[in-house]
Amino acid sequence: MIRSALINVMVAAARKAGRVLIRDFGEVEQLQVSLKGPGNFVSAADRRAEEILHIELSKARPGFGFLMEERGRIEGKDRSNQWVVDPLDGTTNFLHGIPLFAISIALVKDGTAVAGVVFNPVSDELYVAERGRGAFLNDRRLRVAARRELTDCVVCCGIPHRGRGDLALFRKELAAVQERVAGVRRTGAAALDLAWVAAGRFDAFWERGLSSWDLAAGLVIAREAGGIVTDLDGGDEVLDKGSVIAGNELVHRALIAVLTAA
Ligand code: IPD
Ligand code: CA
Ligand code: CA
Repeated sequence: MIRSALINVMVAAARKAGRVLIRDFGEVEQLQVSLKGPGNFVSAADRRAEEILHIELSKARPGFGFLMEERGRIEGKDRSNQWVVDPLDGTTNFLHGIPLFAISIALVKDGTAVAGVVFNPVSDELYVAERGRGAFLNDRRLRVAARRELTDCVVCCGIPHRGRGDLALFRKELAAVQERVAGVRRTGAAALDLAWVAAGRFDAFWERGLSSWDLAAGLVIAREAGGIVTDLDGGDEVLDKGSVIAGNELVHRALIAVLTAA
């Protein structure tokens, strides 16, 4: 795979921030056993990774704006290009020493996500995609799973956090889906969930109540792997609505019907 200059910039930034997260993850594993616990340390890790991403991406593309989970929106001189960044997706996993988390970087051009990088530094799995150029995992071309029947499918979901989101609705949806599929999973890192749909590990993924930094990079990756990715009303407002459903065309259609009827 020949990477564009843009993807090279994104990958270099992700790898640099990944080194910091790996070092801090090692610390968390130690702090896990201490009474103080790793809570504050984790938010510091988050901020450290975000700072590196901000510095590296600004250096490479001065003028581009930012939307970052910790810093919020930073306007750039260039009004059309914006980096949408989650420096640590899967914070709860990170905090508990579970090696399932990722750095997520997307480039959004005039409101459309056009490039995405999702990097899990523990497994060294680097997912990249650029609009019209395909999706790759460590240079291997990705394609969503080809299963046709929901009964054969492993479906990933997101569970609303305590006190947030519509838990009653989620429970209804889960009950409906669980009866129809081979298995349901919850990883706790939405960017990876979409990347895993792209890699054919999950046949589908749905979640509500997400933010654009959770979704923008994974969205490009899943679409470039041939997936259909929409909001839960079946439209294209994934980033604005923060709701998502992804899978191959048949599975996407079948799952959205189950969820709508729930
Ligand atoms: C969270 C993860 C999780 C999803 C949450 C997100 P964070 O992001 O993506 O899978 O269910 O809603 O907020 O907080 O770990 O960056
Ligand atoms: Ca996130
Ligand atoms: Ca985060």
